[in-house]
Amino acid sequence: MRRYTFLLALLFVVACKNTKKGKMISNENTSTNEVIVTGEHHPGKKILETECYICHSPKVSKESRIAPPMVAIKEHYIHENTTKDEFTEALIAWVNDPEQETKMPGAQRKFGKMPYIPYPDDALAQIAEYIYEYEMTPPEWYYTKHDVGEISANHKNTQFQDLSEKGSAMGMEYAKAAKQALGESLLKAIQEKGPTGAVEFCNMKAISLTDSVSVMNNAVIKRVSDKPRNVDNAANEEELGYIAYYKKLITAEIEPKPIVKTEGEEVDFYFPITTNMMCLQCHGEPQKQIRPETLTMLRKLYPNDRATGYQENEVRGLWAISFDIE
Ligand code: HEC
Ligand code: HEC
Repeated sequence: MRRYTFLLALLFVVACKNTKKGKMISNENTSTNEVIVTGEHHPGKKILETECYICHSPKVSKESRIAPPMVAIKEHYIHENTTKDEFTEALIAWVNDPEQETKMPGAQRKFGKMPYIPYPDDALAQIAEYIYEYEMTPPEWYYTKHDVGEISANHKNTQFQDLSEKGSAMGMEYAKAAKQALGESLLKAIQEKGPTGAVEFCNMKAISLTDSVSVMNNAVIKRVSDKPRNVDNAANEEELGYIAYYKKLITAEIEPKPIVKTEGEEVDFYFPITTNMMCLQCHGEPQKQIRPETLTMLRKLYPNDRATGYQENEVRGLWAISFDIE
């Protein structure tokens, strides 16, 4: 690779999971037969997708699941006589205190406990209404899983109009793979150590695990930001421009598209990284959302930390991914 800038950001991602070589991911692009879901515009759907699907996504392969799919949760929580109010109450109660007795002991044995993440009750009520009233996407396990390293091979037989279209499709998959690794690593780290410990864990492990990063040796994947926590993740001038552009789109509620630059076989791919409520434990309002002990740890490890004060659905940074189309 031309620019071998291995960023602590990815190390953070990779470091936090017990790196299993050849991480399996699902191919979200294969969902061509969209199920007709009537609740498409229900506000609870969007919240569910941005907040809960980082762990409960129905689109992840069976093997790489890190939590039960929502449709399974629905079956365990809603029986013939369960009213909407009862379900709403139960869901809110659970999320506010996942230490309570589980209704899904099998899932808990398999995935470990759901960590406590603070969500407002009204957001949870919206989610509950959506789950209660509408049909959930059925657990269509994707059987076409592939290795991150095989992303290129996966696109060999697809007809693309031009290289930039292919670059865009490949870049999206890298970004999704990295995003899933991030979700998984955070879950594991928070489960094991709580948010404060997770910070320390990720930071310390980040230094020594360079080798495992080469799992993605077909691409250089960076997470950059205009307000970096780690100075190594500072966006360059070009990237700052893209971040500003994406901020405008997100504010205007326009679905962002990747920026893809091709030069011969080389592709530079950019896509925004946005926050959800889970991120706020470490990137939100100091003292309010970031607990004092987490804050102390962050200040110690990152004296120049600028990555706080975020709210949900803001542009936290950018995936900047470089790779070759083979
Ligand atoms: C960081 C990962 C993660 C996120 C984010 C997450 N969950 Fe979970 N959740 C889990 C795991 C793991 C389990 C299975 C273990 C358990 O039940 O404790 C679970 C289980 C559950 C259960 C079953 C509880 C039971 O009785 O055992 C409910 C209900 C639930 N989640 C709701 C939600 C909702 C609603 C959201 C979004 C607001 C959400 N979860 C976000 C990881 C997550
Ligand atoms: C457990 C605490 C924690 C949580 C939760 C967390 N982060 Fe971070 N984040 C960190 C730390 C620590 C770093 C610095 C890693 C490093 O040294 O490269 C970081 C760095 C980043 C970076 C790289 C740019 C920079 O500021 O250095 C991005 C982008 C980012 N986080 C996005 C997110 C998003 C999006 C979420 C929610 C999905 C999230 N983070 C949740 C602790 C956290």
